[in-house]
Amino acid sequence: MHLGVFEVAAPQVGGTLSWSHPWSGSRHHRELGHWTGIARLLEDAGFDFLFFADGYGYPTVDGDLPPAAARGGLNFSGLDPVLLIPALAAATSRLGFVVTCSTGVDHPVATARRFGTLDHLTGGRVGWNVVTGASQDAVAALFGHREMTAHDRRYEIAREHVELCLKLWEGCWEDGALVEDAEAGVFADPERLHRVEHAGTHYRSSGYFTVPPSPQRTPVLFQAGTSTAGREFAASTAECVFLQGTTPAHAAANVADIRARAAAHGRDPRSVKVLVGATVTVAATAELARERRAEFERMQTDEVASVIYAGNTGIDLLALPQELPLHEALARAADPRVGQMGQSNIDRFRRPDGSTPLVREVLAELRGRGTRGFTVVGDPREVADQLEELVGTTDVDGFLLEAVFSPGDHELFCELVVPELRRRGRLPHEEERAAGGGTLRERLGAPSPRLSADHPGAAFAARPSAGPSAGSAADLAAAR
Ligand SMILES: Cc1cc2nc3c(=O)[nH]c(=O)nc-3n(C[C@H](O)[C@H](O)[C@H](O)COP(=O)(O)O)c2cc1C
Repeated sequence: MHLGVFEVAAPQVGGTLSWSHPWSGSRHHRELGHWTGIARLLEDAGFDFLFFADGYGYPTVDGDLPPAAARGGLNFSGLDPVLLIPALAAATSRLGFVVTCSTGVDHPVATARRFGTLDHLTGGRVGWNVVTGASQDAVAALFGHREMTAHDRRYEIAREHVELCLKLWEGCWEDGALVEDAEAGVFADPERLHRVEHAGTHYRSSGYFTVPPSPQRTPVLFQAGTSTAGREFAASTAECVFLQGTTPAHAAANVADIRARAAAHGRDPRSVKVLVGATVTVAATAELARERRAEFERMQTDEVASVIYAGNTGIDLLALPQELPLHEALARAADPRVGQMGQSNIDRFRRPDGSTPLVREVLAELRGRGTRGFTVVGDPREVADQLEELVGTTDVDGFLLEAVFSPGDHELFCELVVPELRRRGRLPHEEERAAGGGTLRERLGAPSPRLSADHPGAAFAARPSAGPSAGSAADLAAAR
C-alpha cells in the first residue's frame, strides 16, 4: 500500500473548515518549522511522499471573491509550496515531495527548469502533480487573459505543455554530456548536447535546456482531474493518478477506466499507480475517534461547502433552487461556465441512471466532505480494516491522507495505524524500501530512477543518432 499525505500551504485543506480549531496547527503554515516537523514525522513512519495541492486562484461567486471565503480562509490565501521543498529535502533523506503546478499560465521551459532543479536538490525525490487548474475564472482575470480557456482545450494545452517538458528533460542532454572533468577543463560535451525544437499549437521553443540531467531526469508525473479528458490525459502521461474518492463503486469504475486507457496507449496498466484521497480520523478507541470527528463536523456549514464548490465548478449552490435535482437546476440556470471550470465535482453526483440528488442534498453531502475523498473513522484496527477493504473493492494502490486537524491527525495515524498496517504486511519495512533505491520513482515501485520504456517521454531520449533536434511536435503522437 502506497501512502502519501495531502497538504496545502494554506489555512485550510480539502474544502472544509478546521484551521481555527485549537487542535489544528494549520495556522502555522507560513512557518518553515511546521513543514519540516511534518516531513520528518512522515519520513520516520515510512510514508512515500508529502503532496502539496496548489493553484493561483481562489473561489469566486458572481465574478468576485465571496466575503465568506476571505473571512473563513476558504481556499483563499496560501504560499507557493515549490519554495518549501529544498528546506524539506534538507530535513529528510528518503521522503518524496510532490508539488502541484497547473499548465495554463507558466511556460513549459519555466516548469521544466523548476522541477529539474528540485529533482537535483532533493536527490531525485520529486514529483509534479499536473493539473489544468481549479478556479480558472479567477486565474484568467488575475493573469489578464481575455477569457477563461475552455475545459477540454485546457487538457490539450496540458498535453503539449508536458510534451515540451519531456523533450527538455529527456532530449537535450545525452547521458555522458555532463563531463565535469576539472583536469581537462571540460564541463559539458557539446557533441552530446541536442537542440530542442518544438513548434506546436500552443508553444514554440528552440534551444538548449540549461539544467543538466537530474537523478530522475523527468520528475514522477502525477495527475489529478477525473473528467473524461482528465482520465485520458492521465492514462497517456501520468505515472501516478490522484483520484477523488467518492463511493467505492465510482472509484472502482474510474480506476478500471484509467488502467484500460493506459493499456490502450501501450503502457503497462499496473505501472500507473492510482491513489485515492481519504480522511482518516483515528484514536486509541472508536469512541474517541468519533468524538474527534464530531468536533470537526460541528464546524462545517452550508456556506463553507458552497464557497468551496463554487471555486471548483463555478456553481453557487446556495443560489440554486434547493428542491430541484442538481442537473435540472443547472440546466435552468444555463450558466455557460458550468462544466468549464471542472467536471469531476459535477460528475461525482451523477447516478448510473443519469439522475442527481436535490441541490440541498448535494449541499448536505458536501458539508464536511468538501473535495475530500473517503471518510474513515475508528480505532486502529477498524481503520486498517476499512483501508484494506477499499483497496480490495476499488483496486487503488494506496491513499493520500487528508487530515482535518494537521499535524495532529498525521501524528495519530503514524502512531496508531502505520504499525497495524505493517503488521498486516501492507507496508514494507524501511530496510526493504531502502533496498529498492532512493528516488521517488523507485519508491513507487518502478525498477529504475528513469521513465519506463513504455512511457511516451522515453521516445525523446537524447541519443547520438538523434541529430541536432529532440524531435518535432508529431513525435509524441508517433511514439504513442
Ligand atoms: C483529486 C483532485 C485534486 C485536484 N487538485 C488540484 C490542485 O491542487 N490544484 C488545482 O489547481 N486544481 C486541482 N484540481 C482541479 C483540477 O485541476 C480541475 O478540476 C481541472 O479543471 C481538471 O478538471 P476535471 O476535474 O474536470 O478533469 C484537482 C482535481 C481533482 C479531481
